[in-house]
Amino acid sequence: MTISEAAAAIAGAANIADKTGNTANEHCMHTHTCGQLRADDIGETVTLTGWVSHRRDHGGLIFVDLRDRDGITQIVFDPETLAPNIFAQGERMRPEWVILAEGKVRARPEGTVNAHMQTGEIEVLLVSVEVLNTSKTPPFALEDGIETDELTRLRWRYLDIRRPEVLASLRLRSTVTAALHTALGARGFIEVETPILGRSTPEGARDFLVPSRVNTGSFYALPQSPQLFKQLLMVGGIERYYQIARCFRDEDLRADRQPEFTQLDVEMSFIEDSDVMDLMEEVMAEVLAAVGVEHSFPLQRICYAESMARYGNDRPDTRFGLELVDLSHVVAHSGFKVFTSAIEAGGVVKAINAKGAGDLSRGEIDKIAAVASDHGAKGMAWIAFTSAGEIKSPIVKFFSVEEFEALRFALGVEEGDLVVFGADDFETVSAALSAVRLYLADLLKVERRGHKLLWVVDFPMFRYDADEKRYFANHHPFTRISDEDIDLLESDPLACGSYSYDLVMDGYEVGGGTLRIHSEELQLRVLRTLGFTEAEARAQFGFLLEALSYGAPPHGGIALGLDRLVMLLGGHPSIRDVIAFPKTSSGADPLTGAPSEVSARQLKEVGLRLAQA
Ligand code: AMO
Ligand code: AMP
Repeated sequence: MTISEAAAAIAGAANIADKTGNTANEHCMHTHTCGQLRADDIGETVTLTGWVSHRRDHGGLIFVDLRDRDGITQIVFDPETLAPNIFAQGERMRPEWVILAEGKVRARPEGTVNAHMQTGEIEVLLVSVEVLNTSKTPPFALEDGIETDELTRLRWRYLDIRRPEVLASLRLRSTVTAALHTALGARGFIEVETPILGRSTPEGARDFLVPSRVNTGSFYALPQSPQLFKQLLMVGGIERYYQIARCFRDEDLRADRQPEFTQLDVEMSFIEDSDVMDLMEEVMAEVLAAVGVEHSFPLQRICYAESMARYGNDRPDTRFGLELVDLSHVVAHSGFKVFTSAIEAGGVVKAINAKGAGDLSRGEIDKIAAVASDHGAKGMAWIAFTSAGEIKSPIVKFFSVEEFEALRFALGVEEGDLVVFGADDFETVSAALSAVRLYLADLLKVERRGHKLLWVVDFPMFRYDADEKRYFANHHPFTRISDEDIDLLESDPLACGSYSYDLVMDGYEVGGGTLRIHSEELQLRVLRTLGFTEAEARAQFGFLLEALSYGAPPHGGIALGLDRLVMLLGGHPSIRDVIAFPKTSSGADPLTGAPSEVSARQLKEVGLRLAQA
């Protein structure tokens, strides 16, 4: 079973009877869905509704495969049992016509049972049929596994959604969301909605702006997350808040990013960071159980520094090895200038032992080097230990026998291995080798079955942006600094730790959160470190600072990227696959044509005039 078939099966099973015990067959025109009839139903008179998936004419009989959201059932038009005018209806049937068919369930004749279909043991001998609607010929085949380009599918997304695999991903999403509501409701969380029209705050990604008609010249901003509102709810004494919240960020899009996306947003008062993580593990355990995914708990927690050291990034896929090994101490005194000068400049030399890659061709090694240079490396030295016992490399000549042995030992080298190196400052080497690590995993077809969730914790509070010449908050400016580092806030910001935790799944950041600052004074100091004067801080965040001064409880929380979580659970390559009406990479919706021009009158009403291009 493929992952998406499994997801379909799970979601399908969960969907037939909803939580109230009603089946999907009440309050509607049909007695059964098209995925429901089995051998036990033989002899029943049933009414089905759905779309004509296929029609086949066979030796006088007409077979119509009728499809609905639940499956496909074969309907038989038999000229021996039907009046000619009803049989003629069968001859007219075209794909995607919508019909209501009444008939009798019977066993399929021997030899025609279809083991691949849920309803493959039976068929429905038609008694009467009503055409509820006709259809134009669809622009692409409405079946799984089609190669139609995504733009076409999104242009006619309502047809695409009729395909079982698309429907299954929407069902999976619904199952996950329902499990989240249940898990949080059971733990005393109150669901609160926060505004979509908010104020622009200068942090994080770019805002989407909405001009105000009533207050010409003023703008709302769509929320990048409910962050500040959920903190205000804590000041309001809500204590345990959650929301399935839509967020908007005007940033460049990728497979795991959309301009509007959904978070499970959570905030809690009177807690420590471990409380948030422990609680989210319970919630995740229930979500995974609801979709039939096994995972052991408690989750591993590794600190940011260790994640960077071993994997080169803060969202490691730990389902496989190929870890980064620091060789700086081994090669510091070698004759290879590239390595020694990197170390002298305060940088590092790190390597990955790609087990089983020792016989790759020169061309294949060059492709690995190209991945490194695409991610900022100035080069990628390598040593190939072929399975025939040869050593090939542009750099072995620079090492003494002792250095070479130490290097082999540090990397656990055997015949058949390929060692690739990065030498530069820590950030450059990390970025390059973490990309090389993932590329090697694909190239070597490294097994990555199942899912792996873990926490990455203890992020530094700040990072320094050399281009903008200022500090940025790693998570956001409302994150609480580690108590023991508060004295370093002005003197050495980069040394300040924070109470922070990211939930990582299969190499993706599926969630992130922190404890928050709950003192006005400390919040002002952090904003000052980020470059705000007190007046600027009060102008932008005055409402938050004021709220903190009215008895804000200690609090913290987290947000999970719901789209990413469902994408990974369903085994999809893109979050577009789990969003009903996603945007393309240029932020457009090919179905409705958004974004679109608006009339001169609309512009005038909100006091805007377009600049001439
Ligand atoms: P953060 O910005 O890390 O934290 O977002 C939380 C999670 O949301 C998902 N995510 C996205 N998914 C799809 N498209 C996007 N453009 C996108 N951007 C983010 C990620 C990410 O882990 N308010 C804080 C949370 C907190 O501190 O409680 C926040 O928004 O999976
Ligand atoms: P060169 O002496 O420049 O010909 O480089 C010898 C080898 O070192 C080549 O394989 C280069 O790709 C590699 N190399 C150059 N710069 C770096 C670097 N910063 N990190 C790792 N390898 C490098």
